[in-house]
Amino acid sequence: MTGRRSRRDFIKAAGAGAAAISALSDVGRVKAESAGSATSGRVLGANDRINIGFIGCGGRMKSHIGYIVKRAKEQGDVQPVAICDIYDKRKREAREMTGVDEKSVHHDFRELCERKDIDAVFIASPDHWHHGHAMAALKAGKDVFLEKPFTYTIEEAREIAAFVKSSKRILQVGSQYTSFDHFHKARKVIEDGLIGRIVWATAGYGRNANKEGGEWNYDIDAGAS
Ligand SMILES: NC(=O)c1ccc[n+]([C@@H]2O[C@H](COP(=O)([O-])OP(=O)(O)OC[C@H]3O[C@@H](n4cnc5c(N)ncnc54)[C@H](O)[C@@H]3O)[C@@H](O)[C@H]2O)c1
Repeated sequence: MTGRRSRRDFIKAAGAGAAAISALSDVGRVKAESAGSATSGRVLGANDRINIGFIGCGGRMKSHIGYIVKRAKEQGDVQPVAICDIYDKRKREAREMTGVDEKSVHHDFRELCERKDIDAVFIASPDHWHHGHAMAALKAGKDVFLEKPFTYTIEEAREIAAFVKSSKRILQVGSQYTSFDHFHKARKVIEDGLIGRIVWATAGYGRNANKEGGEWNYDIDAGAS
């Protein structure tokens, strides 16, 4: 999240897809503002489309792709242009969803990042790849939507944060529960003094699962070798 972002933009973000889109509206604005200085090779005008590349097209990315494809059809301000995965089945599925051509299906993320026609990169690869994929995209001049967890280690997170600050790129981490509207409304209510002096605050989040094996343990894809 950057200071360039208005509260109104931010409050629009209600879920993961919406948060991503909200970040993207910022990407478009900043690109338009910094016309001439963008290193991605493309300079966007205010009415231009934001070209998106997707790295790691598994379960999570499918919902982002679905959202972007829907928005591309309905509003036309975004466009999926390239995908990257190392698993053929996922490449196939993501290609079908996005409709990109064969040469825009990448096995090596570096090829996708090097493309001049991409403005923003969505990353939903496994956690240990987040740093490598995000740094490659940022260094190639792209703005980034990166799934949570931000990185695998704290050192990696610090390195990315420092690079984002010095390069003035935009990176949003897909932690939708911290982007939800009500937290920011609560902050505004407090800042505006609407509920007086705060003496006590509580918050909670529970996710007990009855599923066998526990929450977040998925079966290995049947087609995986
Ligand atoms: N925000 C949320 O609520 C939420 C929900 C689910 C998952 N996630 C996060 O999203 C990420 C992906 O989770 P998932 O459940 O979709 O996992 P997944 O295994 O279904 O998808 C990961 C994909 O990345 C691909 N991949 C692996 N290494 C790669 C590489 N070097 N280059 C390109 N592609 C590569 C895999 O083949 C796979 O298709 C994780 O970091 C996870 O924590 C976030």
